[in-house]
Amino acid sequence: MQPASTFGRDSVQCLLANPKGLRSHYASAVTDEIIGQDVSVCGWIGSVREHGEHLTFIDLRDSTGVVQCVISDRIELHPEWVIRVVGRVSKRPGGTENPTLASGQVEISDASLEVLSKANAVPFSVSDQKDLPDESVRLRYRFVDLRRARLQRNIRTRAQINKAIRRSLESFGFLEIETPMLWTPTPEGAREFSVPSRLQPGNFYVLPQSPQIAKQLLMVSGFDRYYQIARCMRDEDLRSDRQFEFTQLDLEASFVTQEDVREFITQAVSDATQAATGQSNLAFPSITHSEAIARYGSDKPDIRFGHEIFELSDLFAGSGIRALDQPSVGAFIAPAKGEFSRSKLDQLVDRAKALGAAGLLWFRIKQGTDGSLEVDSPIAKFLKNEHVAEIVTRLGAKTGDVVLAVSGEFKATRSVLGTLRTELARANLNLEGLQYLWVIDFPMFEGLDDAGNPIAAHHPFTMPNEDDFELMVSDPLAVRAQSYDLVLNGWELGSGSIRIHDPKIQSDVFKALGISDEVANQRFGFLLDAFGFGAPPHGGFAFGIDRLAALLCGEDTIREVIAFPKTQSGLDLMTGAPKQIARDTLQSYGLAISESPKKA
Ligand code: AMO
Repeated sequence: MQPASTFGRDSVQCLLANPKGLRSHYASAVTDEIIGQDVSVCGWIGSVREHGEHLTFIDLRDSTGVVQCVISDRIELHPEWVIRVVGRVSKRPGGTENPTLASGQVEISDASLEVLSKANAVPFSVSDQKDLPDESVRLRYRFVDLRRARLQRNIRTRAQINKAIRRSLESFGFLEIETPMLWTPTPEGAREFSVPSRLQPGNFYVLPQSPQIAKQLLMVSGFDRYYQIARCMRDEDLRSDRQFEFTQLDLEASFVTQEDVREFITQAVSDATQAATGQSNLAFPSITHSEAIARYGSDKPDIRFGHEIFELSDLFAGSGIRALDQPSVGAFIAPAKGEFSRSKLDQLVDRAKALGAAGLLWFRIKQGTDGSLEVDSPIAKFLKNEHVAEIVTRLGAKTGDVVLAVSGEFKATRSVLGTLRTELARANLNLEGLQYLWVIDFPMFEGLDDAGNPIAAHHPFTMPNEDDFELMVSDPLAVRAQSYDLVLNGWELGSGSIRIHDPKIQSDVFKALGISDEVANQRFGFLLDAFGFGAPPHGGFAFGIDRLAALLCGEDTIREVIAFPKTQSGLDLMTGAPKQIARDTLQSYGLAISESPKKA
């Protein structure tokens, strides 16, 4: 899936309409409409070709595209030199047109050239889109990498996404407000980055992992509808969809229902999608959390494909088949490309075990000699005809399909099956398009910690479902939260909730989480205090702009839509950060590095 244009359309249009300074035109404005005009263009040499004794052809690249310039001379020129070319626009000789360029019908001929800046030999070709070097080389020379058309497109598309989101939310009256970067801890689950204070030695600020508390305080302050394209910092393991620094569209509103919040977000995301890809009228279906787990084994299911999981435990209850007579038996038809070989099935069994399953059962559906459906399976001899018939009917399996089943406790089976379902689909199916999905009614808590306290599934400011208040103490794991996630193509795009605005309920939730009044007061006293001064009911949401931009640009990792990302190990290969700092700087903070600092 590609955005509608190679370069962010709006911003390029504005450039084309506003050439200034050394240039009269941008490359893509040099078209057959201005044949005969004298122009001056500026940019980088994409390629140089010499023809005969006296002709040099140059592809000049600027941020709008490429234009061909012809110089009646032979001079030493190299790719990535910065030049200014002055000449006359003329029609290209028949047969040499390039339909992929806006300037492809014309060239700047009889041109004179001024070298504005020479360049060292670049470590990789800017125009070659296929033969890219290792990512570490690209990140070391990110300033060169960013010249490539694909990254130019990504960064421009990202800017358009931000612009569309701003326009959309402002049409609903949302106000953009900046919140502090030097802040205090927020209990949202991630490890935070600390910043030492020089004026208060021994004390630290914390970089915000999100503006969560600040935006709730803004609701108490009466701003009613707030948003921010907010930089957030989390010191967590980096992956293709995670960086230390990332950007959220963060939003909060007062006197709203969760349906209202979802509507604001749906509109903003739809507008961003249209701005980036031209697609409109995409569906945003919703599913409850418990249904998502039961049918897809995931709280962020990719529903671009079916292959849903079915429960079969009732079929085998009391059957005496040990592997299947279990509290839960989940099964799905494996997404396949051709037939699964025996060794591939063995690999799947190993994969399921690595994911924590006791084993994986497979059933290959085949046609018996009498035309009835039979199965090939390591446990075929234990199965009765009605078992086979019911598996086939329930799952809608056909001859040749392979059904995979995992048994055990419900939660564990679904987790393994959900991962296998996604991995097999990504490896074997041609997954295209955009599929949004709202997942609603998340549980309030997602298990117990080592001390037996429930762990907040979202964050501890989330309002429990009012029907479940009574279960807070007796059965906390059964309490549903008023929280919701937005999923795109199997990626968690964002999450949000209706918040607690009553200090008493907030203090009960802190207690349920094992946070004592004393600790709560010490860490979030200011918030509880604020709630005592007239807090409106409120709720909100935040989604990752990096993730949205990556998916809309058709990229597999958010690094491709971030100008200066870090490596998986958190390094900035271009600047060398993080670096040691001078001893006297440390001293000014009252800090010292221990003899042998431990690596995480
Ligand atoms: P949450 O923690 O779910 O919610 O974050 C919201 C979204 O932010 C993005 N995200 C990240 N993107 C890149 N790198 C990371 N390390 C990273 N961490 C999170 C994801 C995620 O879905 N304050 C709440 C929201 C709210 O309740 O209003 C919050 O931050 O796309």
